[in-house]
Formats: sequence, C-alpha cells, structure tokens
Amino acid sequence: MAQQEDVFKKLVSHCKEYGFVFPSSEIYDGLAAVYDYGQMGVELKNNIKKYWWDSMVLLNDNIVGIDSSIFMHPTIWKASGHVDAFNDPLIDNKDSKKRYRADVLIEDQLAKYDDKIDKEVAKAAKRFGDSFDEAQFRSTNTRVIEHQEKREALHSRFSKALNAGDLEELRQIIVDEEIVCPISGTKNWTEVRQFNLMFSTEMGSTSDGALKVYLRPETAQGIFVNYLNVQKTGRMKIPFGIAQIGKAFRNEIVARQFIFRMREFEQMEMQFFVKPGTELDWFAKWKENRLKWHKALGLGDQKYRFHDHDKLAHYANAATDIEFEMPFGFKEVEGIHSRTNFDLSQHEKFSGKNIKYFDPDLGESYTPYVIETSIGVDRMFLSIMAGSYVEEQLENGETRVVLQLPAALAPIKLAILPLIKKDDLPELAKEIMDDLKFDFKCQYDEKDSIGKRYRRQDAIGTPFCVTVDHQSLEDRTVTIRHRDSMEQERVAISELKAIISAGVSMKELFKKLVK
Ligand code: GAP
Repeated sequence: MAQQEDVFKKLVSHCKEYGFVFPSSEIYDGLAAVYDYGQMGVELKNNIKKYWWDSMVLLNDNIVGIDSSIFMHPTIWKASGHVDAFNDPLIDNKDSKKRYRADVLIEDQLAKYDDKIDKEVAKAAKRFGDSFDEAQFRSTNTRVIEHQEKREALHSRFSKALNAGDLEELRQIIVDEEIVCPISGTKNWTEVRQFNLMFSTEMGSTSDGALKVYLRPETAQGIFVNYLNVQKTGRMKIPFGIAQIGKAFRNEIVARQFIFRMREFEQMEMQFFVKPGTELDWFAKWKENRLKWHKALGLGDQKYRFHDHDKLAHYANAATDIEFEMPFGFKEVEGIHSRTNFDLSQHEKFSGKNIKYFDPDLGESYTPYVIETSIGVDRMFLSIMAGSYVEEQLENGETRVVLQLPAALAPIKLAILPLIKKDDLPELAKEIMDDLKFDFKCQYDEKDSIGKRYRRQDAIGTPFCVTVDHQSLEDRTVTIRHRDSMEQERVAISELKAIISAGVSMKELFKKLVK
C-alpha cells in the first residue's frame, strides 16, 4: 500500500515536471481540486478526446455530436432532480474545523477492515509458503472471520442508512465505529447535513432581475433537451445516439487524489435513444463496446473490471461502472446507465412541451428510453498516465523512467535529433522535420548528449526518436529508436512517414473496435 502511494506521488510530480498537469493558480498557492493542463497534458487530453469522439461519431453512422452551452435554463436542473437531490452528506470536525463526506469516512473505515484481513492473509502466506491455501485460511481463521463479520455488519448498516437518506444514522455509525478526524484525532463531530454540489451564479445585470443559474454538473442534460432538435434536423431514426464532450462543475466536499476528483472537470457523454423494452439489450451491448474501447489501448486487460450497482437510482433499471486499477485501488472511470425515460419525461412535464418521438415504423409516438455512457476525460487521463508510468532497471544499473503511452495518444509522436550540433546535421534534421510536421506532432532537440535526449523523450512517452548522423548525409538514412524496446534500426528517410504512420495511427485502435 505504502509502495503504491509512493508510485502515486511520483506520478503526480512527473505530471508537473514534464508539463502534463499543473496545480491551478499555483503562484497564488493553488485552488483546491482545480488543475491546469500543460503543453504535454493538453496534447494527451486532445488525443483522448479524439479517440472517444471518433469512436462514437465516425464508427457509428447513427451517432452524431453536439456542443451545448454550460449555462442552461435553471428549471432543467429542477426537472432532472439535481436541485433537490444532487447532494452529499457532510460532517464537520469541531476541533480541526475540517469538513468531510460522512459516506467517505465510513467507506474508509470499511477499507480499514479489508486492510486488516489482507494483512492477516499476507502474513499467513509468508508463513506457510507454497502449501498456503488462501480460501481455506479465509474461511477458518478466527481473526479474519471476526474482521469479516464486523465489515459485513457495517456495510449493511451503512447501505441501509444511505438508501433511506438517514443522516442521523450516518452520524451514529461514525460515532459507534469511533472514527476520528485524521487532522485533530478527535471524535468531536457536528450533525450530518446535506450539501448540494452544484455551483450557482447570477445571470443579468440588475439584482432584482437577475436569474440564478447553475454551472452544469453533467453534460447529459444538454443532450436531453436537444434530442428532438437533433432527431428532426438530422432525420435520425431510433435507435440513435448523441455524443458530447464538455466541462462540468461540482463543488466536491472531499476533493482529493489529484485529478481523480475535481471541482471543474470534463466529461464525454453519449446518450443512446432506444425503443422502450429494448433498453436492456442495448445496455449489454454498450457495456461490451465500452470495455473494448478501454482494452484496445493495451494497458492490460486485468486492469479493468465492471462494478455492477446493487443499488439503483430510482430512474435506472441497470447500471455499471468500468473501474481501472489506479495506484490507490480499482476506481470508477466510466459509468454506463440504463436511465429509462426518466429525464425526457421530466423535461416533458416541467416544460409542458410534447417531446415524444414519432416512430414511422410503428406509426405511433413514445418517449424513448436512454442508455448513457459517461466518462471523465480527466479520470481517463489519470488512468492512462498511471497505466503507462514505468521505472525500468537497465543492465548498466541505471533507472529509466518511461511513459509507455499507447502510441496513438502520445503527445509527441517523434523526436528528431541531430547527433551533434554541427557538420550540417541540424540542417538535415530540420529538413526531415519540415516534411513530417504536417502529419505528426514532432519535436526537434539538439541540446545535451543523445542519451539524455532519449531519456527526455522516454519521460513524455514519445514512441519514436529519429537520429541524424554523418552517415545520413551520405546515404539519406537515419536511425529510428523504438521507445519501449529501445531497439534501433537504420531506415531510409523516405520510409519514415510510412513507418511512423503505421505505429501511431488511431486507425489501428479503431480496427480493434469494429472487429
Ligand atoms: N451523466 C451521468 C454522470 O454524470 P457520474 O457518475 O456522476 O454520472 C460520470 O459521472 C463520470 O464523470 C465519472 O465516471 C467520472 O469519470 C467523471 N466524474 C464525475 N465526477 C468527477 C469529478 N469530481 N472529477 C473528475 N471526474 C469526475
């Protein structure tokens, strides 16, 4: 665990050192849970968005995109339920004056029981060696059974309180479990209160005429309220989807774990409109499609898993998360929900407008059901960085830090490096760059030894380094170095475009998706 935390810390500082992610407003000591993407980060982020966008609107002729505004009519958030129910239960420690999410404190306590069990298992595994039977140990060891029973009792009490929205019971659990504030170390807790996560501001210049508006907490509602505009103007027939990428804002109480939980973040959401009664089949299809999309990146199939929801929101009839193994455990990266016709029906009710779909095949109108796939760009970014960061021990005893990014997503596709800064080598290197820059994001670097330059490119995940040497002037060949294997081969300059293109093209990823 401590080792994993260490990896996470290294990842955060790597992100900063190499221009991927900076804390926002850093020279003013930062702004909690808000981050800026640097020169490398923005390229990676744009590539992630392109991978998602094209996989939706290019590969599916029944999915189109939109870009709706961040501000929307405030009644939308009343209709969607966000004004009344988009809440987190918060609790304050009176001594440290620190605020926590009551549910997160209890979840951390559950994780402590899991840790205790894991420690017992690890200790026994060490003691018994090859003859260790983990399943038998877990079912017979008294200490493990005791921890397991306590965990299960807590879990069931917690789920019941959460489902019933019983804030007093949540507080009582914190008291009974003797949970202390990590800062003050005391159990001096306030009551638990509901806290709405939406940011609001005012639109309009006069105070009496100003309208309270919200910064959208999800992009999905912009799709719901436009679905009929798109359907009619695009002559879409059900089933069809609408995709959107955009900023969302949530006043998270506990914002931690770097860009995992932010107050300003970006979502990629797709709502798929289907005929009532077919939604569970579509839900299963989208589950499979979306997992395929993640796995195609090649970070390791074992790093992903589904987490099906036991407890469903009142408007959903199926829900799952795709989780990725972050340095701090398996965590949600994407949510897939079968949202029934809840949102569209609510907008119909609150707007008073008929927004039903006329089905030409059936000759009747109905409110479509919706399958939603919703993924955070920033969480996806973090999962890719975490899955790609490798510290490699080399034969010469040195450590190489390499970002083994999927080549199609790498910020820089190739570096062009003259072996030395004279003898016409820079001129030839720049000539190559001028030819290739129309096709690939390239970086020219002539500073420091070639070894140091290779390391700099490894650290930002550049898949190819092209080195121009004296032989290049004679026979117009160069060496091309592959990031992961560090192997080098001599190739003709005229072949570079085809070699690099085959290695970094998103097309290869897309081909895996349509198989
Ligand atoms: N429209 C459905 C919806 O918004 P959600 O589970 O609340 O569902 C979807 O959010 C995705 O958005 C999550 O799986 C996560 O990737 C991302 N996300 C949510 N809150 C976030 C936050 N505070 N910071 C970063 N990403 C977040």
